[in-house]
Amino acid sequence: MFDLFTSMPEQAATWSADVDWLNDLITNLSVFFTVTLTGAMIYLGVKYRKKSEDQEVAYITHNAMLETVWTVVPTIICAVMFVYGIISYKEMRTPPSSAIEINVDAYSWRWDFTYPGGKKSTNTLVVPLGQPIRLIMTSHDVIHSFFIPAMRVKEDVYQGNYSYLWFEPIKLGEFHIFCAEYCGLQHSAMIGKVKVVTQEEYEDYLVDRKAGDAPQLSPAEAGKVLYTEKTCNTCHSLDGSQTLGPSFKGLFASKERKLADGTVVPIDENYIRESILQPQAKMVEGFSPIMPAFEGQLSEEDIANLIAYLKTL
Ligand code: CUA
Repeated sequence: MFDLFTSMPEQAATWSADVDWLNDLITNLSVFFTVTLTGAMIYLGVKYRKKSEDQEVAYITHNAMLETVWTVVPTIICAVMFVYGIISYKEMRTPPSSAIEINVDAYSWRWDFTYPGGKKSTNTLVVPLGQPIRLIMTSHDVIHSFFIPAMRVKEDVYQGNYSYLWFEPIKLGEFHIFCAEYCGLQHSAMIGKVKVVTQEEYEDYLVDRKAGDAPQLSPAEAGKVLYTEKTCNTCHSLDGSQTLGPSFKGLFASKERKLADGTVVPIDENYIRESILQPQAKMVEGFSPIMPAFEGQLSEEDIANLIAYLKTL
């Protein structure tokens, strides 16, 4: 397809080429119809203009054939765009369960990354080639937007909840990260890079710790400590027995949960986060609203650590 005036960034993720193909399709169709229709309007307007005062004018009220064509054809074109769009969208919103999960913390004005083993980095996200990466993102102040043009992914990042995106890098090298939401004075300086490395280099990177640069415990280990320290253990068992609260055994594996009001909600990071901070917001079927709210008592890191721990059960 004719790549009009688009000069897209490198294609570094599995779907980059598909995204560009669809973008080109929509751009080409839009340009084609804009030029053709505007051209026809001007041409016909000039050709059939009233040339003198006494010229007879033909009054045409409608033309069923023409009207059908200009309704049906655009509808089909829009349907094609929509179908291709929804296929890509679904893929981009459904990370594989094998994805490596990395937490992203946005601050004015930097990006912090926390890897599964507890390794942390700032503004540089290191990921292995050919592995799906899922980012669990939250902001500590205003709204930011995490944007990796080469991976064709962009997602707003808010305070008080998690947003997600995922991608699978297919190219080694370094790629830009931008903040795509105006977030204050240093917004334009809120830049970073994704470094795509080999699996081996990635594993080396995770264990390469300078003194004091890594926590003693991995997020899941730190979460395990909190589980007892915050006395979650008094009501939430780990062996499947139901006491005052639902057991944590197989929590994330069970994928969804039935609430007291009959609705079924997916078990994801946002659900767990809300259930810790405002336990009464979504009451699990068969339990009483007795859990105290932990709002204001846990740091973002505590919450992320607890979630990391719950995923291991
Ligand atoms: Cu963060 Cu703009």
